[in-house]
Amino acid sequence: MVNDGRASKIFRSERVRRAQPVEVADRLALNSRLDGTIHTLSSAVKRALPPGRLRNLLHGVPFGHPVHAPLTDVPIGAWTSVAFLDLIPGTRRASQTLIAAGLAGAIPTALTGLTDWSSLHREQQRVGLIHAVSTATATTFYAASLIARKRGRDLDGKILSYAGLTALITGAYLGGHLAFRQAAGANHAESINHLVPLGWHDLGSIEDLPDGWPVARMLGYISLFVLRIDNAVYVMTDRCAHLAGPLHQGRVVEIDDEACVVCPWHGSTFRVADGSVVDGPATGSQPAFDTRILEDGTVQVRPV
Ligand code: FES
Repeated sequence: MVNDGRASKIFRSERVRRAQPVEVADRLALNSRLDGTIHTLSSAVKRALPPGRLRNLLHGVPFGHPVHAPLTDVPIGAWTSVAFLDLIPGTRRASQTLIAAGLAGAIPTALTGLTDWSSLHREQQRVGLIHAVSTATATTFYAASLIARKRGRDLDGKILSYAGLTALITGAYLGGHLAFRQAAGANHAESINHLVPLGWHDLGSIEDLPDGWPVARMLGYISLFVLRIDNAVYVMTDRCAHLAGPLHQGRVVEIDDEACVVCPWHGSTFRVADGSVVDGPATGSQPAFDTRILEDGTVQVRPV
């Protein structure tokens, strides 16, 4: 290949494009160097937080969506305000109060984030680990800043705060990447009902459905979870609301006398009658369908 001036210009412009922050974050998602650490840490979090009330609360199940993202507003809001207050004379006490408020808010923020992170895909966990390291670094800088300010070393305190802000912005960017580019925390089943035309649709004969054993059935190009129990048929979207796992491959269990399905990927548990969440990490209900059985045994479904 001839190494003329034009070729070297193309090479330079490509280097500039690849240096974009989003490219760096995308490369982080593909870097497997920390996978051993990720496996050890996420297993430890799952062991410490078995399925149940506390874990559901930390995921945000009672609120219907993850609570980690809204909680980040407390430290980010408090510490960003400090950056402006530090430029104004006579705001010493206000800055100290806001740093302390941010530190208090960082505790539930970290706990909820760690809980959500333990049940993500590996690519999301790689970005999430660096996000956590960045925000933990920011928290350490702000704690050191508060100590310095309390000891009367205000200039040191301000320098430490600005160092913390730099780490905080890095962590916030990666958090945004996780939520909006990698769709961690988003509901992965919400759009499905909108893709099914209104009204009743044939799904096949009840005789073709195994009793007590979930199967997948296609409605157009939409995959549905179908469970027959005696003469009742329950139908939900097959893509798990958490991260789109195939629910028809999950275990059917009975909880409080109600049939539920446990997602094979991260254990979210849904009542098959209405798709409501029993256990997270999913926080949004699984879209369920109305069903009816015609006299000839044809099962019909329609979006609720
Ligand atoms: S995909 Fe994660 S629990 Fe279903």
